[in-house]
Formats: sequence, C-alpha cells, structure tokens
Amino acid sequence: VEQITIILDGIEASGHPETTILQLAEEMGIAIPSMCYDSHLTPLGACRVCLVEDENSGRLLASCVTPIAAGMNINTKSARVLETRRNVVELMLASHPDSCIVCDEGNRCKLRQIATDLGIGLVSFEKIPIYHEVVDLNPFIRRDLSKCVKCGRCIRADQDIAVVGAIDYTDRGFESRPATFCDAPLEKTECNFCGICVSMCPTGALSASSRVSTLTGDRATRTTCPLCAAGCQILLEHRQGRVLGVSPAKDDRSVNHVSLCVKGHYGMDFINSEGRLTTPLIRKNGELTAAAWDEALELVASRFDEIKKNKGPGALGAIGASSCTNEENYLLQKLVRVGWGCNNVDSGARLRGCALSAGIAEVLGAGEMTNPISHIRDADEILVIGADPLNENPIAGQLIKQAVKLSGARLTLVNSIDQGLTAFADARLCLRPGAHNAFLAGLIREIMDVCKLPRESNDDDVAWFAKMREKVEVFTPEKVEEATGIPAKLVKKTAERLGNAKSLAIIFGADLACEKGARLSGVLLATLARLTGHIGKAGCGLFPLASSLNDQGALDMGAQPGKLPGWHDVDDSEVREAFGKIWDTALPEKNGLDYLSMIEAARAGDLAGLYVVGENPVSDCPGGQEVKIALSKLDFLVVQDRFLTETASLADVVLPSATFAEKDGSMTSVERRIQLVRKAFEPPGQARPDWEILLDLMRRLGLESSIKNPVDIFSEINKAVAMYRGATLKNLRRESVFWPCVSPDEPGVEVLYTDSPPRICVDEPPDLPAPTAPEYSQARPFSLILTQSLFQSADGASAYSKTLTKLNEAVRVSMNPVDAAPRGIADGGMALIASGSLKVRTTVALSEDTPRGILVAESGSFKAFGSLFTLADRDREHGAPCFYRVAVSVEATDV
Ligand code: SF4
Ligand code: SF4
Ligand code: SF4
Ligand code: FES
Repeated sequence: VEQITIILDGIEASGHPETTILQLAEEMGIAIPSMCYDSHLTPLGACRVCLVEDENSGRLLASCVTPIAAGMNINTKSARVLETRRNVVELMLASHPDSCIVCDEGNRCKLRQIATDLGIGLVSFEKIPIYHEVVDLNPFIRRDLSKCVKCGRCIRADQDIAVVGAIDYTDRGFESRPATFCDAPLEKTECNFCGICVSMCPTGALSASSRVSTLTGDRATRTTCPLCAAGCQILLEHRQGRVLGVSPAKDDRSVNHVSLCVKGHYGMDFINSEGRLTTPLIRKNGELTAAAWDEALELVASRFDEIKKNKGPGALGAIGASSCTNEENYLLQKLVRVGWGCNNVDSGARLRGCALSAGIAEVLGAGEMTNPISHIRDADEILVIGADPLNENPIAGQLIKQAVKLSGARLTLVNSIDQGLTAFADARLCLRPGAHNAFLAGLIREIMDVCKLPRESNDDDVAWFAKMREKVEVFTPEKVEEATGIPAKLVKKTAERLGNAKSLAIIFGADLACEKGARLSGVLLATLARLTGHIGKAGCGLFPLASSLNDQGALDMGAQPGKLPGWHDVDDSEVREAFGKIWDTALPEKNGLDYLSMIEAARAGDLAGLYVVGENPVSDCPGGQEVKIALSKLDFLVVQDRFLTETASLADVVLPSATFAEKDGSMTSVERRIQLVRKAFEPPGQARPDWEILLDLMRRLGLESSIKNPVDIFSEINKAVAMYRGATLKNLRRESVFWPCVSPDEPGVEVLYTDSPPRICVDEPPDLPAPTAPEYSQARPFSLILTQSLFQSADGASAYSKTLTKLNEAVRVSMNPVDAAPRGIADGGMALIASGSLKVRTTVALSEDTPRGILVAESGSFKAFGSLFTLADRDREHGAPCFYRVAVSVEATDV
C-alpha cells in the first residue's frame, strides 16, 4: 500500500492510509493528550481533548479519529489548539467535583494530569455540579458518576475487550451515564467483574471497592499473576508491605495486554490476610507451637535423615507446589534426588492434565500448548471440547469471544453442560457425559475422508495414519450418535466444517483432562490437529487449558517422579549420568511415586516422611477423608505454606512461606512462556521465600552448594535444562521468553513445529473402546459434574481474599425439574447425593438448562463434593485423578 506523507509539527512523516494523526504522532514520539482514546478500543472521538490544527485547511481535527491525508500540515501545539484544548478540559472540570485530594485515583487520574499539563489552575467557568451518589455496586467495583467525563471507555472495554455487554449509555444530555440495562445490579447481569472497565476509566468514576486505603501506593511492582496458568502481567501497587491495588501491566507483548480477570484484579488481598503464617510451628504435646527457624529446620533435617537411615530413601517423598517458582521446584526435586536419593517427588500439576498431555506427546512428541494463546484470536474456526475457558483460563475465554464477535470466527462447542459460551457458538453439540472420545474418533473418521492423509507425512506417519483409519472405521456417524447422543448429521457437518477450516484452534480443558480416558483424548486431539495440518503455523494449534498456576514450570523443573529437569526420562542412564555430573552425585535409577501414589503409600505404611510444599492434598485430592487418614499414618509430615491449611494443621512441623509478591523468581505459563515474579516487599513476620527455606534445609542435609539466591539457581537451570538455556535473567528482565529457547541470542519459539510436522512417536495408535451407548446403573442413575469457579484459584489462596469471598458463592447443585419432580425435590430444597457409601447433603436449584440425568455442582465443587470421589478413581499409569464426574443417586432430604 502506498504511504501517505504529511507534515507533522514541521517534520515530514509517512504512514499507511488508515493511520490516524494520533497514531502517526505516537510513532514519531510526539505527545498529543487524549482522554477517550485507547489503542485497544474502537476510537470514538468523544472528548475532543486530542484536537490538532491542519494549518493548510485551518480546521481543528480530533486526531484520534482522523486518518492522515495527503497535503496535511498538522500542528499539535498551535496557540489555537492549546486554547481550545484548555476550554474543552475546563468544561470537563466545571462539572467535576473538587475532590482530588481524597479521590482513590490520586495521581493516576488522566483528567487531572492533562489539566496540569495544560496549566489549568482554577476553572473560569461556572461550576455545573452533577450529583450522583457513590455506590459500591458489588464487592468489587465502586461507582462515583459525579467524576464521569462520559468518555465511553468503560463501555467500549466491556464490549470490545471483555465482550460481555453488561453496560451501555443510559439516558440523554446531562443525565447520560454508563449503566446496566434498567440500572440492574452488575451481579444480576452477565458481568464477570473482570474490572477492565475500571482500569480503562481515566478518572475516579470507577474504582475498586476493595482498595484498602485511599492513599496512592508508594510503589508499583511489575510481576506475574500466579492465580491461574495464563500468567498475566500485573502492576502490584503497595505501601508499607500491603497490597493496595492491582492493574494490568498494559504491555502488548504480554498475554493479557490490558485485561485481567476478577481474581487477578481483586483477589490479591490474600497477601494481606490475617491468616498468613508468620512463624515456624512444631507439634509439641499434640499442639502446633511457635518455634524458632533453627529449631524447626534442625528437626526437619534430622527426622528426614533418620527415616532415610532406618527405612531407606524410598520411605521419603515430597510434593512440590505449582504455586511456587521454577527455582523452588528445581531445588525441591534436587533435594529429593540428590539429598534423599529417591525420585519420590511430584507436584499439584499431577492433579490436572498429565494423562491428557501424555497422549498428545505420543503423537507430537510434546504435550504442551503449541501456539501462544493470542493466536486463538486469529483462528477462523474454533473447536472447544470438554473445556470451560471462561473459568479455566479467562484470557483464553476472552479471546474466543473476541475472535467470534469481532473477527467473525466460527465456534463449535462440544460439551455436556452449558458453560457460558453458547451465545457465541455457531454450533453447540451436546454430548453424553464421558463420550468425548467416541465423538473425536468419529470426527477423525469423517475428516479422514475429507482430508485424506496428511500431505507432508513421511512413510512411517502415513502408515500410522492408515492404522488409525482402521481403528476409527467402526465410528460411523450413526454409531457416534448412539454413543454420544449427537445426531449423525451434525457429526458429518462438523467434520466437513473443521476439515475445511483455513485455521483451526482446538481448545480443551479439565472436563477432558479429569475424565476417564484422558490419555486417549490426548492422542485423538493431536491426531486431529496433525491430520488437518493445524499445527506449526500461526492462528491455529492445540490449546490445553487444564493446567493451572505454575504447573508447566513445576513439570519443566522435574518436580515429577519419572522425569528429570527438561523432561528427561529418569530411566535413561545417559541422562542420569549427565545430571549426575552437574550435581556431583550418582542419581537414583528407580522411578518414583507420583502424588496420589505417595498418599496411598502413606496409607499402606510404605511412606514414612512427607514434605509438602505449598500443596494442600486434604482439600485438593479426591477422597479428602482418605487422604487425612493416610497422612495421619506418616511418621513425620512437614508442610511449608503461606496459610495453616487443612493439611498444615495435620503436620508435625509447619514452615511459613512467602507469597509470590514477597520473592524473586520465574514462572512458566501454560503457553510455555517464562516470566519473572518480582519481590515487592518483605514477607510478614518470620515467613521466608520457599527457595530460602529449601536452601537452608539442603545445607543442613549436608548438600553444600555455591547457590545462594534465585539468580544462582536460575543460572544452574540455564545450564541443566536445554530448553531454558537461552532464557537468561538478563533476557527475562527485558521480556518474557517462550521455551524452547536454546540460545541467549534467540527470542524463543512461540509456535512449535514450524520447521516440519512432528514425527509420530509411537508405532501403533492405541486401541479405541467400541462406540456404544453408556450404561447407567439403576442405583446411581445421575452424573454429578463438577465445575470450576472464576472466583477460586487452584492453590486455595482465593479463600483468603476478603474481596473474593464477599461474593459468597452458594454451594449447590442444579438439576432438571423433570428429574426432580418424581423425587419430591423442590427448588431451593435439600438433597442427599450419594456415590455408594459416600454422601453429601446440598441445596438444589432447579433449572431447565440442566440436561436430564445430570447434576451440575455449581461452585466450590472440589471442596464441597470431592468427598464423593476416592483415591482409586484415577488413571494409574499417569497418576491422574478422574475428578470431573461421578455417578450418583439423589433423593430429597429434610436436613
Ligand atoms: S467488570 Fe468487566 S464484564 Fe463487568 S462491566 Fe466491567 S468490563 Fe464489563
Ligand atoms: S465511568 Fe469512567 S470510563 Fe466510563 S464513561 Fe465515565 S469516565 Fe469514562
Ligand atoms: S487469574 Fe489468570 S486470567 Fe486472572 S489475572 Fe491472574 S493470570 Fe490473568
Ligand atoms: S481522545 Fe480524541 S476525541 Fe477523545
């Protein structure tokens, strides 16, 4: 496209024809003040603060909405421009309260900043006060519309970025204001409290109700939100060791740009919680009693040593935390492997997605997300299967909505219950619980007929696909209909559509990962992507959403029993030798126990000592009561955490640890993106960062080391883990890096498999169970499905956020009225839900949207209904719990 050249403040400048004057000025480093403009929003041209003068035509132009045109001679600071701008801003100030000194926005207010820059002191116009009462609309957002300048940024943020549409302009003239339909409370609308409207508001009209002080923080630290696997970049505003507020880092290279979800925006007050542990605790006479660090760590080191000597290294185990940094997970697995001499180490990542990713790895070689999450926005077809993106990974959820609403992508949803995206879907295929694999196999069968075999495959791959074709042969559309409940013609139509997609994003989550047959789902999903050619390029790929927190980093660092750092097999002798050289010791050969197997071993008396770092097995594992019993059989339990969790209260020693805001380190998001967390302030009391506690413990175990701090640990990771080699701290301080990043001179690999399609890693495709209609037991005719809450984080930290818990989500199940009527269950009534001898009483909400035969546990699912599952409900090969759905009976009860 031919460039257009104009004169801008006396300098020649060129841009493409759609460039606005404001954009070109920004590119040239010329500042033009703006109020209603933001590069992430559709320009509106509402405020006129950005006026500039075209000296050729003599016109005053709103630079944010005026494209450059040949012959323009723009002056951004002429006397006329400055005069008019002052008038515009003075008019705004005339209807704005004089309350800056006590306003929450303090120094961040754009209006005040622009007024100051324009030298506006007292306003010469008569004041036209607009009275609105200050309202705390909900636990999250406060509204003071007397400060509203009607820029419409909140409305556009809600519609263009959050893609929710909860607010719009209401009324006309002076009465005009952003509001919900009929002024309904936000919690009665589709609003998800993401707070993007708040962070986009240029004045104090919208602010966070949760702000603990009207004072501006003395520092804002850029760091990474640890509350889900998206890895949003945030600015943590704080004063004297307390978090005051959080805003998005507004970095267009980050995953979140200007977005955050409710947890990231309003949930960080968990750091200020009075429930934080501030001193080590040792159990004395049955009571946890405050102790000094030396006493506690000496006890931990000597008791673990004693168990190792008396019962052997295999009697010890450690569970690392997905909420901890990469450095901390690296140290923990090193302590177990080098210090104790066993491979009994795992992390919370085991509870989410490991069987599924193992299945993907069988076909592609690696089970990770193939493309950055942002590529979802560029797909022309999106398949969401067995996932709840709006709650599992709110940034991915938002991008799906943007792709559909703003770019015209077509969305196919395949799930058993409505998870909030139905209004955006071109097709929603409602399948029987647990029938995902029959659907995927049928889809592959049909697509194979559309696509034939993948073009670029080598001979082995062609042979593999031919075998796969034989395996899926029985999955005719009619058989798939029988097994899944999805009509045969919809299976065919979906195959045709996805088979012909230009770019297909395949998104899947916990509903698949925590379901029986998750490994098979992984194989089928990878086959689908490989078959249709939607990997190795932008705008498509595989997007597993089930992982949470720093799951990816914990796994990369070897906090898993069968893999050393960098995903190297423990049973590979050459690899062991190589790591043995780095760590100066011979490494244990035998595969270790995974998370749930360690709990089982404790129950059987085979595990005597367990070190739990930042995890809470009693609350997070299936069969909480079983876990409690198992842990009580241990000779020695040490829990290192920020809070006295259900597991910590069973421990012999509790070590108080720092939150992400109180330490330095790195985390790796689900995108394979390595980013820094930065220490904003000191931890409370005697709490210490996990890495510091681990190093202290390692020294007491005789593991002398030159490692002193996270910088040293990360340097060792750079040497030991090839895919992290180029992600040096120097690079990470500049920007995030995707692994694999093998050289400090390279930016890392955003999209996997761009050079060539991956070689299929196994000889034979797996056997597929026959496509038959599921049989339901008369005794347990319902499927209880657990769902995820947007307001809860996997590490339980959200439970300590006063703001998030104010919403008080009701724990209940929803049920179809037709199922409820014969059982005498009324809306709001109590029901007894039973899986064999395991029982839970709960409130029931009747809803016609809930499919027949299904009970949906609406929130707080894992805590409230986890006791209906048992430790045995898992994929034994991968140690992954089947923690999504359970067959139950239901009957009315009075209490
Ligand atoms: S909080 Fe988010 S969803 Fe709610 S109105 Fe604001 S932008 Fe929309
Ligand atoms: S509430 Fe804030 S963002 Fe919304 S129109 Fe008013 S000033 Fe603009
Ligand atoms: S919880 Fe996840 S989506 Fe929400 S702000 Fe944090 S990283 Fe972003
Ligand atoms: S910033 Fe240009 S009109 Fe508001």
